[in-house]
Amino acid sequence: MTHDGKAPQGLTLWHGRFGEGPAEELVAFTASLHFDQRLARHDLAGSRAHVTMLAHQGLLTDEERAVIITALDRVESELADGTFVFLESDEDIHTAIERRVTEIAGSSGAKLHTGRSRNDQVATDLRLWLKDAARDQIGRITALQEVLVRRAEEAGDAYLPGYTHLQRAQPVLLAHHLLAHVWALARDVDRWSDCLTRADVSPLGAGALAGSSLPIDPVLSAQLLGFARPFDNSLDAVGDRDFVAEALFCAALCQVHLSRMGEEIVLWTTEEFGFLHLADAYATGSSMLPQKKNPDIAELARGKAGRLIGDLAGLLATLKGLPLAYNRDLQEDKEPLFDALDTCALTLSALAGLFDTATFRMERMAVAADSPENAATDLAEWLVRAGMPFRDAHAVVGNLVRQSVERGVTLDELVATDPRLGPDALVLLEPGAAVRRRSSRGGAGPEPLVSQLAAARARLTAQHVMLVGS
Ligand code: ARG
Repeated sequence: MTHDGKAPQGLTLWHGRFGEGPAEELVAFTASLHFDQRLARHDLAGSRAHVTMLAHQGLLTDEERAVIITALDRVESELADGTFVFLESDEDIHTAIERRVTEIAGSSGAKLHTGRSRNDQVATDLRLWLKDAARDQIGRITALQEVLVRRAEEAGDAYLPGYTHLQRAQPVLLAHHLLAHVWALARDVDRWSDCLTRADVSPLGAGALAGSSLPIDPVLSAQLLGFARPFDNSLDAVGDRDFVAEALFCAALCQVHLSRMGEEIVLWTTEEFGFLHLADAYATGSSMLPQKKNPDIAELARGKAGRLIGDLAGLLATLKGLPLAYNRDLQEDKEPLFDALDTCALTLSALAGLFDTATFRMERMAVAADSPENAATDLAEWLVRAGMPFRDAHAVVGNLVRQSVERGVTLDELVATDPRLGPDALVLLEPGAAVRRRSSRGGAGPEPLVSQLAAARARLTAQHVMLVGS
């Protein structure tokens, strides 16, 4: 330490206690700057709040505070215009910023870290970062929902087969099918906003693990940073990464939803299904096979889900054996968090573009849905209306389908000549009849769709309000 309190370049934050500098391997192995640089903006915000609190508590003079704030502003612009020079010894973004502030602000800068540890600092930074990132996720999910709702509105009375076990089951409106994904995404939004509630706690003031002997004020720090409240327990504040695990689950489950959508796109764009045609800008070609048009976005949406599940499982494994409070293992929280949220964000936007520009091949869907067998349940329900127990009706219709398959007679013919059904029942087999009859609440037909679409629109408006209000 030189007399003016400036740590000469290249010294570690703990050089006072150590007789020699760090080994090259230690620096290479423990450094996190290459990934935690993206916390810079939040680290600066944390430092501004911290020095304001210190000055308020009489731990810094107003002049010292002003000098440090000016230095922080300068660091911010150096980082923004790329003139900030990182040193070998800048282990992480916290070290780099504090080192530069001290270079600029001299002995005042050396007071920046008063009553603070990197342990509460990094937890604060990461929570601040997540609060922004979660809102970004919600925004992107909402954008994808917007596209799906609009495509649902445009789909009119188009219908396709609904599947169970990937076998044709009953026709459903295309709009109903698209809205199914919208509701799954709505739950993702709910999960993110729930996650935000628990992330919205300030750890600043917990120090390394036990708080401080100085009269710091964690309540004021929390207020200055816009956190809903400060921590209750210093050990928990620095050792807790539940908010990261929750965020990773939110992202992983959202990506699983996107993966299922991806799988569907892969199927629908095959020649065998032929339900969906991708815009050239959202499809890829083959380096060898000139005729190919591949749904790579959809495949990667599916493939990347594996990574996000890994990110979540990896963090849980990191946390499971850790004693209180901070352990360096916790540095392993950031890479999976950044990876998962970046990946999910890109997937959401790519799928929004894909759905925005794709063409639904409604004639192919209708042909696939109009096979008379898809109306089998309606035939059984016709018999139920006439008083037959459903189990018996199921057997009667099942028998007709079997005869049709085995004897090569059309189902229409068998229905028309069956005394229990007869020619009147043929209306059920007309194209589109089965989907029009799905009238129960939340069902796949045009009647319940009207209120479902209205509910989806209302839901989107509420999400927009939430995004603007937050
Ligand atoms: N880079 C560290 C992390 O991400 C910052 C905290 C370091 N604290 C410590 N006691 N070495 O966790």
